[in-house]
Amino acid sequence: MISRVKGTQDFLDLTLFNFVINQIKKHLATYHFTEIATPIIEPVDLFKRSLGIYTDVVTKEMFLIDTGERKEKICLRPEATASTVRAFIENNIQQIPWKVFSHGPMFRYERPQKGRYRQFHQITIEIIGSRAMAQDSQLIKMIDRFFHEILQLNNYALHINFLGCFDDRKVYRELLKDFLEGPKAAGICDRCKERTQRNIMRTFDCKNPQCQSIYRNAPFIADNLCKACDQEWQHVQNDLALLAVSHAYNPTLVRGLDYYNKTVFEFVSPQLGAQDAFCGGGRYDQLVGQLGAKEDQPSIGAAIGIERLLLLLEQCKDKLPLPTLPSLQVIIPMSDAQYSLALLLADTLQAYDLVVDILFEGSLKSRMRKANKMGATYVLILGQEEQEAKEVTVKHMVTGEEKRIAQVNVVDYLKK
Ligand code: HAM
Repeated sequence: MISRVKGTQDFLDLTLFNFVINQIKKHLATYHFTEIATPIIEPVDLFKRSLGIYTDVVTKEMFLIDTGERKEKICLRPEATASTVRAFIENNIQQIPWKVFSHGPMFRYERPQKGRYRQFHQITIEIIGSRAMAQDSQLIKMIDRFFHEILQLNNYALHINFLGCFDDRKVYRELLKDFLEGPKAAGICDRCKERTQRNIMRTFDCKNPQCQSIYRNAPFIADNLCKACDQEWQHVQNDLALLAVSHAYNPTLVRGLDYYNKTVFEFVSPQLGAQDAFCGGGRYDQLVGQLGAKEDQPSIGAAIGIERLLLLLEQCKDKLPLPTLPSLQVIIPMSDAQYSLALLLADTLQAYDLVVDILFEGSLKSRMRKANKMGATYVLILGQEEQEAKEVTVKHMVTGEEKRIAQVNVVDYLKK
């Protein structure tokens, strides 16, 4: 047997998955977002230039595609923000702000565990070209409303932090470096020491409890903002309070990708275990310029991790208005002599939007049992007698009532 690739999944029932996608489409339409789709394969450089060359995603987790002698450097996308920005620039979009969303598979070569896969799915929501901080609060409210009101989730928290402008971060990095290289941080792990040199703010992501206890005394960026940023940070918090979005300030939330500045946030749930974030996002004011546009476009966005969201929903899906299965009719031709008639009858019923299956093989008894298991409402039996009389025997599977009716009247009968 050939097994599926490590870290991937087979989805054998997409009811909940499709429900989430359909609901988010409806929800985002009310906020005036447009759906787009970008390729799954992209140039490697797109992610090097956007996520940052020292991020884990770029250094360790890229699915690179071997193009042989053509030597094209392409990869499977690890996320979709960079692709959305590329599409914005490449298609010369003039409509600003560009409010778009997309969904699809992403690929990261991570160590698989509960809620962490090598192929996973995201819904990516981006607003490109808006400086207003009120946009941040509205985006967060919109996502929170989706989780709370539409998907009826309760057991989650919204963590938020403010990373300031790029000048703030320059000053702050020095402050943090002094702390991390000073006596108070003598006990940090080797990985954090390495990160101090390469990607200093990511030291906060370390899961080691000793490092975490040391970082409680570190200087935090939100306490070291310039005046303008500090005011913006206050605005975001005030607007979230105004919109009744409960949130917790998390001073060590820095996010794993380099393009962020100012507002960053994550929706987390203790029900998910170690991989507890099921949505993450933030502002990225310089990415459009960084990826080659003449003009910068301040932007903000977020991505929902569908697999992790489904893990949460599995436990409370009874509350959701999931689509019910349509009524099923099963046709049973008694022998091969009635196969063609069965095809014709099914074809006619399906043209009237009735859901029909034909059971060709097995004894009548076993096919009746199978139809029952399939949840059929009616079974339509076609034997030699029915064929000659241009009739069909219709059996209601719940009441057991059986009737012979003319084939020309079957649609009317079932539709009633
Ligand atoms: P991210 O935090 O890397 O952000 O991913 C967003 C979400 O995708 C995570 O919160 C998680 O639910 C899910 N996710 C990430 N990696 C995996 C994995 N290996 N297995 C399962 N789920 C995973 C981004 O991707 C940014 N592009 C978000 C964004 C959009 N920022 C601005 N706009």
